[in-house]
Amino acid sequence: MRGSPNMKSDWVMDGSAPPKRMEMGQLKPLQNHKGHKLLQRREARRRLVDLELPELVAGQIGELIEEHLKRQRLAKHGFEPRNRVILIGPPGNGKTSLAEAIAAELRLPFYVVRYSGVVSSGLGETTQMMVKVFEEAATQPCVLFFDEFEGVGRSRGKAGGDSASGEITRMVGALLMEIERLPSTVIAVAATNHAGMLDRAMERRFQIRLTLPGPTIEQARKFLDRIGAAHLAEELAATNFSELEEFLVDVERRAALSDEDESLATLAERRLVLWKQRAEVGRAEGKAKG
Ligand SMILES: Nc1ncnc2c1ncn2[C@@H]1O[C@H](COP(=O)(O)OP(=O)(O)O)[C@@H](O)[C@H]1O
Ligand SMILES: [Mg+2]
Repeated sequence: MRGSPNMKSDWVMDGSAPPKRMEMGQLKPLQNHKGHKLLQRREARRRLVDLELPELVAGQIGELIEEHLKRQRLAKHGFEPRNRVILIGPPGNGKTSLAEAIAAELRLPFYVVRYSGVVSSGLGETTQMMVKVFEEAATQPCVLFFDEFEGVGRSRGKAGGDSASGEITRMVGALLMEIERLPSTVIAVAATNHAGMLDRAMERRFQIRLTLPGPTIEQARKFLDRIGAAHLAEELAATNFSELEEFLVDVERRAALSDEDESLATLAERRLVLWKQRAEVGRAEGKAKG
């Protein structure tokens, strides 16, 4: 049941198991004529407590989850939970993870919308296919994740006079309308690296708009402190959480194979040297490619 009466309201933040809810059937994999899956179901294991989030973001997502858990109470007052979220920020700072966490906390199936597949399916059918995806998705509660959403906004901005771009414009228009028409049991989460590329009208369709920034130096320290390496935060100078995570896993992996009796922190210090060389090689290659 969605809102059992003795449910703890603060389970979201304390990391305890979420309440059981109704078993949900599976959406049929929806395919276009070329056999592309338009909706890809993915396992959502990430939990909110796994993520370092700015207070504002954690608060807003906590509210969203509460609204869905207490849907019946809201309904008594004539309200529905919010269900359209856009996450903005550079890669590797948790947009996808947060979308997954919303699904995991609410025990909802997590679907990635592959509209790029939709677009390539032949422009004439795109709008029709898109509508189908939404009709299918709307049949049961789920989280629908739209990654790289700026692609959609950009197509609309670029649309000129030829028939292909006219069709894209229609597709985008239809897409936005479908997002707005989704029942509140379906949570649409869009992600973009490029806030500037979305037009205002588009952004306003989302009731919750959040920015996910890179780690502050304090957050980097806290992250690295898991292996006793908080003091390496400055030198590592990770620009996103993904990099921090990678470094952590790298150290732990090497530690697992090591026969020497050295601390994770010491190992981390040695790995950092290699890590920085790697980063430099990467940058040089990037420059060479232009
Ligand atoms: N805010 C965060 N807190 C903790 N770990 C994070 C955070 N953001 C990203 N990560 C780590 O980096 C990985 C990639 O993040 P991801 O959610 O794919 O970022 P994005 O979708 O914004 O590119 C995650 O699997 C996670 O391990
Ligand atoms: Mg992502």
